[in-house]
Amino acid sequence: MSKVLFVSGEGLPYCKSGGLADVIGSLPQSLCKQGEEAAVVLPMYKTIIEKFPKLKKLKTYHVQSGLISKDADLYYDKQGDVEYYFIRQDDYFYRDGLYGFHDDGERFAFFCKAVLDMLPHIKFKPDIIHTNDWHTGMIPIMCKQEYSDEAYHRIKHVYTIHNLLFQGNFPKELLRCFSLSDQYYKNGDIKFDDGISFMKAGIIYADEVTTVSEQYAREIVTSEYGERMERVLAEKGDRLKGIVNGIDVENWNPATDKALYKNYTENDIRGKKACKRSLQYQLGLRVADDVMLIGIVSRLTWQKGMLLLLEKLGQIMNQDVQLVILGTGDNYIENELKKIESTYPHRAVFYCGYNEELSHRVYAGCDLFLMPSLFEPCGISQLISMRYGTIPLVRETGGLKDTVTPYNQYEETGNGFSFRYFSGDEMMYIIAYAIHVYYEDKTAWRKLIRHAMNTDVSWDLSAKKYKEIYNSL
Ligand code: ADP
Ligand code: GLC
Repeated sequence: MSKVLFVSGEGLPYCKSGGLADVIGSLPQSLCKQGEEAAVVLPMYKTIIEKFPKLKKLKTYHVQSGLISKDADLYYDKQGDVEYYFIRQDDYFYRDGLYGFHDDGERFAFFCKAVLDMLPHIKFKPDIIHTNDWHTGMIPIMCKQEYSDEAYHRIKHVYTIHNLLFQGNFPKELLRCFSLSDQYYKNGDIKFDDGISFMKAGIIYADEVTTVSEQYAREIVTSEYGERMERVLAEKGDRLKGIVNGIDVENWNPATDKALYKNYTENDIRGKKACKRSLQYQLGLRVADDVMLIGIVSRLTWQKGMLLLLEKLGQIMNQDVQLVILGTGDNYIENELKKIESTYPHRAVFYCGYNEELSHRVYAGCDLFLMPSLFEPCGISQLISMRYGTIPLVRETGGLKDTVTPYNQYEETGNGFSFRYFSGDEMMYIIAYAIHVYYEDKTAWRKLIRHAMNTDVSWDLSAKKYKEIYNSL
């Protein structure tokens, strides 16, 4: 049994910008069910202060990291078996939004140091610190090089890459926000181009590096997907592993989900049909059982294949389908999508924004879920859509390839549809095929729903794999 402290820039139920928050909200809980002890530490953003006003304040301590010299207030909460710690520093974190500020490097330099300085003040004494994505990438090197106390050197480090695109690369001057010797820049360990890279430091100094699917682990050591980090990653050898994400199957459960108009199960999907009608009604689509409803819930960026969607929107809408898109992101994509309601009245809607409740209703109410990503480390959305019997149509990349098995009409197998090359024509070909199956072979479609809903999207297996890594360390 190990004691694992998760460090992350976001985590449910407190704050979320994407799938990382889903993982931090559910993996630690699942590990605890399997006998580990887990705690989580997050920055205390404005949104957390507003939505969770009753968090308990434990103490204030001073944090010194290079030129940074500020107090941190430590807050505490517990959900299920997992303990949560929050580091409050309003100059850095009391803002609208989580990331994307000019001083992100300094903010997370402070956070990394504050996490390590927190350890003597809390009862939870971690064997493992499990860091995630660039925000926390400097922790292993700081823990190993900035502290003389033996207790710090006994800790082992696991670093998980959720998205290699965001590397936390900053000008060299940011080194002033760390108490690290210049040597680590000069020897190249944290140097990237002419600056420093949080993610590179995480990869090099963690004892084990993981990423969120086996396929993405294979992809990121190639120049096509490696985002110029492929050599550093390849050097990890078998200390780089892929472990596919799961989801919280209690929160995402069509049989009990309170956001749904009607609940349903794999054996009785009448409730799913009611959810579809109610979603159509709510969004101003023509209410009809017999038209295929295609859904998207996504950040609207090129990573998610939204440019393929824009390219083929006209052809998709030429078919007998309805379309609902819930998302927010790049201005260009948002502006293009804002036109669909007037172009295809009562057939297509775009809800521009972030809406948790509506997302549940889209996952439940649609027939097909579209996720044509250019790259996808794992993807949480296709897992949720399968759980709700909404058939994913994905590009075969990263975690989408690992989790979606394409429909095979001869063997009657599969839980979704997929296409290989990142091309609008290929995507369109498979969409047309899915539409054909939907209208022409109701039995096959019903079987697809059953297979999707029976797919194990829980953390059970993957949490075991993390446990093995912790124990091996
Ligand atoms: P990524 O983390 O790359 O954005 P994932 O598929 O791993 O992609 O996770 C996305 C998560 O964010 C899912 O839980 C999805 O339901 C949620 N999500 C994305 N966009 C929205 C939105 N506009 N409203 C509500 N939830 C959203
Ligand atoms: C990132 C990836 C996504 C993954 C999520 C959680 O946001 O883009 O594919 O599911 O992290 O690991």
